[in-house]
Amino acid sequence: MPLTAPTKKPHLQKQRRSSHRFVLAALATLLLIASFFMLFTAKNTLLPLSTDAVYLRSDAPVELRVDDLLSRMTLPEKIGQMALVEKNSIKNESDIAAYGLGGLLSGAGAKPTQNDPAGWKKMVDRYQQLATGSRLGIPLLYGADAVHGHAHVPGATVFPHSIGLGAAGDPELVERIARATALELRATGINWNFAPNLDLPEDTRWGRVYEAYSSDSKVATELGAAYVRGLQGDDTTVLGTLKHFIGLGSMEWNSSFNKNFRIDQGVTVADEAKLQSIYIPPFAAGVDAGALSVMTGLNQWGKHSLVTDKYLITDVLKGQLGFQGFVVSDWYGIYEGRRSRFVATVEAVNAGMDMVMLPFDYETFVRHMTLANRLGLISDERIDDAVRRILRAKFALGLFDVPSAEVVPFTVIGSIPHRQIAREAVSRSLVLLKNEGDVLPLQPATQRIYVAGSAADNTGRQSGAWTIEWQGVDGNSVPGATSILAGIREQVSGGVDVVYDKEADFAGGASKADVGIAVVGEGSYAEGWGDREYPILDEVDRKAIERLREVSEKVVVVVVSGRPLLMESEIEAADAVVAAWLPGSEGGGVADVLFGHQAFSGKLPLPWPARSEQLPIGPDGSSSDGSAPHWQLGFGLE
Ligand code: BGC
Repeated sequence: MPLTAPTKKPHLQKQRRSSHRFVLAALATLLLIASFFMLFTAKNTLLPLSTDAVYLRSDAPVELRVDDLLSRMTLPEKIGQMALVEKNSIKNESDIAAYGLGGLLSGAGAKPTQNDPAGWKKMVDRYQQLATGSRLGIPLLYGADAVHGHAHVPGATVFPHSIGLGAAGDPELVERIARATALELRATGINWNFAPNLDLPEDTRWGRVYEAYSSDSKVATELGAAYVRGLQGDDTTVLGTLKHFIGLGSMEWNSSFNKNFRIDQGVTVADEAKLQSIYIPPFAAGVDAGALSVMTGLNQWGKHSLVTDKYLITDVLKGQLGFQGFVVSDWYGIYEGRRSRFVATVEAVNAGMDMVMLPFDYETFVRHMTLANRLGLISDERIDDAVRRILRAKFALGLFDVPSAEVVPFTVIGSIPHRQIAREAVSRSLVLLKNEGDVLPLQPATQRIYVAGSAADNTGRQSGAWTIEWQGVDGNSVPGATSILAGIREQVSGGVDVVYDKEADFAGGASKADVGIAVVGEGSYAEGWGDREYPILDEVDRKAIERLREVSEKVVVVVVSGRPLLMESEIEAADAVVAAWLPGSEGGGVADVLFGHQAFSGKLPLPWPARSEQLPIGPDGSSSDGSAPHWQLGFGLE
């Protein structure tokens, strides 16, 4: 007997392959027809609803309304609620009602064609109208990343990024900012914000440091809860999202799963003690403050992808913390790095994921969920629990009661009171790091000021990313914003000469300036696109400081950046150094402090490293190479 079976003749193999294909294709078609059948017939055979259904009664308790609505829903309607879709991925507008989608989002700031407040409102209202036109009339959650104000909308107030608020360290101020943000969001019909960010950055090479308040868990705990209170304040409330659950900020360098990144989307070293004492408290406080959505991170917790970690999502978040809201995955997060989207869906939902930010292909998700349920891989109970949590948030937000056309006037967007809050926040976020000879605040006798640097006359840079565009913009292209240079000009009296040149080319200047102000910093970046092995100043900014040194009696360096930079020699060269973080639209707030109208009060929300070998640095100043950072967390001169 031959050891190997004789090979089949090629034409027979081909015939056999094509008959296999035929059977597979037939099965796939049947599955497709069956899912469409299930999707549509279920609805068509249901009786019309009476208008006095309990879930429609605003006076009924939320839990009764949830139970009532859930009992009326078909499986496809339930699965639809679990889908969160990027608005540009909607193939056909009628899909919103046909699939009963739970939420839409403007990913990376995806805008309407008419990109102004009225255009945003029209777009969101239209989606809402389509959703509420469905059989049960379930409204949509519409999500946006208003992480420092509703900053993707031209003309909105752009508040300092969170790291600046961490430096200011005032929960009451954060609450007012969140309240103003909620109003600007609601004016455009948006009811869900992907904020506050509770990450704890310990490695300044990470591109998301500025999205977080501090590396100190206590600061994130206080400010995050304040943000939730402000956002979800009264009846014009916006749903907040605690993100990113959990352990973002101390991923290992070079551990990213994304080939474009170095540390973002990387591996957090899992440690139960640190989980409980450091990472959990900000989330626990946010849950206590009433947050009803939590977003999981794109990082890995030890050996496991977070999105499949039942212990963290179900046992810790929902069990230990008693979280009653819903857990939503981050952008494409349940699929990231997985071979089978079907298996990924089953694992994430069974781990406790309630809503999936797909964010693209909802048809496949619905098919996979339906099949998984039919095969007994995802139970009816798990689906009911997920939908119950999503509906609870929708009822709590009042979405079933307030008509979608509920009006917060457009005039709140970028309004003077909101800009005043932002300006106050800017002035309180500045940290005075060095002040030799008390050069700051600037003396009234100052006659001539030279201003230079890439961030001096650049509202895009000073606002950072998540402004107008996901990655931010460069130049004076943030409508309604005041540059730091304009802020300085506004403050000086007629007799003072303010001369500006980005590159500090003041060679033709008649005399030396009393003070040279170098407003230097980083270009905008978001997420892993900002991962940098050596976060340092650009050549043009280093040169500007050098040149100012030659033509000014005193040099003040204002650092506009999303993180502490490695800049030992520039610190040495300067008389005064100020960390201004990413102040946003109100550059006047920087000048308020430079000229002494407001006192310096900010404190470092994370240690400022001297060199990259020290990274990561814990909030207590413990560095990787054992040496002390240049400035410790909490440092700030007054
Ligand atoms: C980010 C989240 C953000 C989401 C939606 C993701 O890439 O990690 O923080 O909320 O996109 O825009």
